[in-house]
Amino acid sequence: MITPHKDFNLKQYNTFGIDVTAALFFEVSTSKELIEAIQQIKANGIKHLILGGGSNILFTSNYIGAIIHPAIVGIDKVTDNDDYVELRVGAGVEWDALVEHTVSMGLCGLENLSLIPGTVGASPIQNIGAYGVEAKDTIEKVEGIYIDNLEHFSLNKQECKFDYRDSIFKNKLKGKVVVTHVTYRLSKRCNLITHYGNLEVELEKLGGKNLQNVRQAVINIRNTKLPDPKELGNAGSFFKNPLVDIKLVEELQEKYTQVPFYPVNDNMVKLPAGWLIEKSGWKGKRVGNVGVHKDQALVLVSFGNAAGQEVVELAHQIRQSVMELFNVSLEMEVNVV
Ligand code: EPU
Repeated sequence: MITPHKDFNLKQYNTFGIDVTAALFFEVSTSKELIEAIQQIKANGIKHLILGGGSNILFTSNYIGAIIHPAIVGIDKVTDNDDYVELRVGAGVEWDALVEHTVSMGLCGLENLSLIPGTVGASPIQNIGAYGVEAKDTIEKVEGIYIDNLEHFSLNKQECKFDYRDSIFKNKLKGKVVVTHVTYRLSKRCNLITHYGNLEVELEKLGGKNLQNVRQAVINIRNTKLPDPKELGNAGSFFKNPLVDIKLVEELQEKYTQVPFYPVNDNMVKLPAGWLIEKSGWKGKRVGNVGVHKDQALVLVSFGNAAGQEVVELAHQIRQSVMELFNVSLEMEVNVV
């Protein structure tokens, strides 16, 4: 029978480095252990939370419930043909270890998602994305356990209802399932996606466009803009890039000639939240133990020993400034617990 840790410190289990505890902490390395943990949680009638790499979460107090940390590992080849390979991967595998593995095998699809912190199990939940690619582009299947009846589920790509930083797991199935495995389809015929930002410029410096260089270019760009959570607590982008009417961009262009934006359809565009925050004067600002990163305004940081509530208050002030100046509402990307 699996035994949980009691009053378990979570500082090493969240990339903001918030010093809080969980009443119970189950680290499960098989589906069987996962089912046992759920049974115990139900028997005790306590609330629960699934915690992967802790790279998209902000704790504001001790967690008075049970945390399940899926540590299911393994990368298994389930299909191999002339065009592609399918890999079924355990939810506990570190995301970038998977990317490195696929790139070293000459398989394409995940290279633009290099160096994203977190685990495989989280990749379908919020459909992680970077440099013009999203997890949904390669995910074929997501498997796991339903919490209410402990049965196995398997959803295909369409059933996962992927969208920008969104999926069925953040909506209809929120709190109802635990992901144990994700299957990715990786191509043997590479179609490298390099149009985003200054990826092409970085590739030039590395000597040209190939799979390994795309991974390296993404790593180089991320390292210049995004703080390493081991050095400075953070959870990547704190807000989503807001979807706005194209008319707003036309209005903004009268004052700011260089407004960056990404067209979504004929009427709507995504505005970079980092730009809105920078123009609101927050970039590089520090308030007590927390602040806005100096190189990427979309990233809120903790300078050690910050309470989660301090980050929430800073986020609130930023939202207010952006609302007052641009009449745009910023939605949090990070889960506040
Ligand atoms: N910008 C500024 N000031 C800033 C930051 C950004 O003006 O301080 C403007 C720049 O014009 C820049 C544009 O915003 O060209 C876009 O910035 P960037 O390329 O850094 O990307 P982003 O839109 O801020 C998104 C993702 C990131 C992902 C990058 C690269 C979201 C919420 N964030 O950020 O994902 O790495 O694109 O593809 O969509 C994450 O989700 O945690 C994350 C880091």
